[in-house]
Amino acid sequence: MPPIPNAETHVGSPRSRVDGRAKVTGGARYSAEFTAPDLAHGYVVNSTVAKGRITGIDTAAALAAPGVLAVFTHENRPRTAWFSYKYQDEVAPPGTPFRPLYDDKVVYSGQPVALVVAESFDAARHGASLVRVSYQAEAHETDLTSRMGEAYEPPKKRSGISPPPKPRGDAPGAYADSPVKVSGGYWAAYEHHNPMEPHATTVVWEGGGKLLVHDKNQGVLNAQSYVSSVFGLGKDDVRVVTPFVGGGFGSGLRPQYQLFLAVMAALELRRSVRVVLTRDQMFTHVYRPNTFQTVKLGANPDGTLRSIQHHSVTGTSQFEDYQEVVVNWTGTLYHCDNVELTQKLAKLDTYTPGDMRAPGAPTGLFAAESAMDELAYATGVDPIELRLKNYTEHDENEGKQFSSKELRACYEVGAERFGWSERNPEPRSMREGRELIGWGMASGAWEAQMMKTSARAVLTADGKLEVACATADIGTGTYTILTQIGADAFGLRMEDVTTRLGDTTLPYSPVEGGSWTAASAGTAVQLACEAVREKLFKHAQKASGSPLAGAKLDAVSFAGGRIEVTADPDRFVTIADAMRAGGVDRLEAEETANPSKIDQLRYTGYTHSAIFVEVRVDEELGVVRVTRVVDAVAAGKILNPKTARSQVVGGIVWGIGMALEEETLPDHNLGRFMNHNLAEYHVPVAADVQGIEVIFVDEHDTKVSPIGVKGLGEIGIVGTAAAIANAIYHATGKRIRDMPITIDKVLG
Ligand code: MOS
Repeated sequence: MPPIPNAETHVGSPRSRVDGRAKVTGGARYSAEFTAPDLAHGYVVNSTVAKGRITGIDTAAALAAPGVLAVFTHENRPRTAWFSYKYQDEVAPPGTPFRPLYDDKVVYSGQPVALVVAESFDAARHGASLVRVSYQAEAHETDLTSRMGEAYEPPKKRSGISPPPKPRGDAPGAYADSPVKVSGGYWAAYEHHNPMEPHATTVVWEGGGKLLVHDKNQGVLNAQSYVSSVFGLGKDDVRVVTPFVGGGFGSGLRPQYQLFLAVMAALELRRSVRVVLTRDQMFTHVYRPNTFQTVKLGANPDGTLRSIQHHSVTGTSQFEDYQEVVVNWTGTLYHCDNVELTQKLAKLDTYTPGDMRAPGAPTGLFAAESAMDELAYATGVDPIELRLKNYTEHDENEGKQFSSKELRACYEVGAERFGWSERNPEPRSMREGRELIGWGMASGAWEAQMMKTSARAVLTADGKLEVACATADIGTGTYTILTQIGADAFGLRMEDVTTRLGDTTLPYSPVEGGSWTAASAGTAVQLACEAVREKLFKHAQKASGSPLAGAKLDAVSFAGGRIEVTADPDRFVTIADAMRAGGVDRLEAEETANPSKIDQLRYTGYTHSAIFVEVRVDEELGVVRVTRVVDAVAAGKILNPKTARSQVVGGIVWGIGMALEEETLPDHNLGRFMNHNLAEYHVPVAADVQGIEVIFVDEHDTKVSPIGVKGLGEIGIVGTAAAIANAIYHATGKRIRDMPITIDKVLG
């Protein structure tokens, strides 16, 4: 076989998703699409009160309905783990996790109170409509404004979430002395993730007490540990397989209640069970919390910051202290000697909020970057110049260097591309017909980290490679980038590489979250491939009269199915011959990527962005359209410009939703979210998304991960809402500090 020319490497080149075809042809199976003989279907009954006790559940009519097999409630549920810590998952915040059907207590509206299991989904749904639940309701509170006075600093910090730093300098004093001051209060609404794929679990009863679980989540191992801990099962008896995830955005980080219910029913009925949540039931668990913030900035007349005070209060449930990083960004983005940042929680009678795409950052920077825009107007300094004036080369919160920070280049390149220099800062200075045009910008920052992750690589004599890791591909392109890394390690074509993910029998990975997967799983795959290369090279040298005898590993290249001396490609051994020399037909290695403890202590890893937005505001109707976006992103090495761009565009679209549309509205009398459907919970649709341009700025960083990757899943959303709000101010002269910025607020 002639060598296949390897004109360009896959890593760094645009590549279409390797799973794209399977997804558009229906070949990719999602958790509710797996089936089993004799599959039973569960339908959840949700509480209609926000707080109180269940005084009675009448299941007789449901049980008498055709096809209904069982109704599970707190009264007849099987024994599960007693202690609440047994329900704690890998990313649980401090507190006592919600335990489905645990007792008669209702702690939030929408809480699952019964599961009807039937021969078909329709029979289960019909049965669920016949379950009569009576409650003794108690007074509830779901309104953050009424609990602001009782806000507290969480006594126990959530693992992995940095609490605000200790105050530095004297922020209130410096504010009082500042010649220029801006201050404001900011609201951000409740939001629900609304992934396309709703939460769903299909438990396949395999007999002998073994369960094969297909569960919509962002981490199969987390789901497996939860099931085994809650139900007292050995890990070998619970295999979780989730090859495809129809969007997660954080909603699948923690096990959700359908997993518990499906496993419980399967164990009790000793048969396969599927539980799928409907779209309205998707509004009965995880969401982005609503947040109130105040920001005060004190500055000199030239815009130099003298004081930053940023405080936030976020809603959480009665039972867990959910925490995300809201205010810290303000203290790391700019140089300032007097900084005070606090972050408090207020307990509400709701389910525990959860991580949603860049948890805390777009909310916090909406406030901080709106305030910076106000400061730009108050001082007459251009918004970019203002940010450059206060630029910092190190993380002043933690007193660490940034592992790399090309934000300056982001400002420059983004501004140039957008045409920022043409901007007349005067509000209401641009108009076309009845539309006011506004240009706004904001900075973005998000954590770049690598997590301990393992991967396996298996090379066979026919020149095919399989790489495998338990991590998920939640739509981010993980299959594709791991395939690229594997292909390049051996100079193979993408088609010669198979990537396997989302299975608890594969090497260890944490949940896919925090934008860390490309750096973590990518490094693990790289290491596993390097280990296989080394083995292969040793075998290649063993071949009698090997053309590679005496060569060093770093002096050879792997390309076109062979190992060749880089300086003299005519000296080569094929993969097949190398395996033959070693007497093997496959080579395998499993390696673990461990983040460098020293680098983590010394450096703060962030991705950065500078985002520029044009809005057009219909002056009569108050309709805001985002007509142009330029986002310049510094995120280390870009493995695949095509999937990378898609991640950032997706984040920006989320930012458009956050700024202008998304809001779950509770009726505080009922303590319930009212717009629990996609007709009334608005997300951007194709018509809302116009020109979006993403630019990746060169950035070299091997401290976050040895492969130079920083991650891109979240940075796209981070500055977007702030930039839109700033553009709306520029268009209209109206500073709106309450997201989403809906028509009523624009006209009001
Ligand atoms: Mo992300 S909010 O960590 O899925």
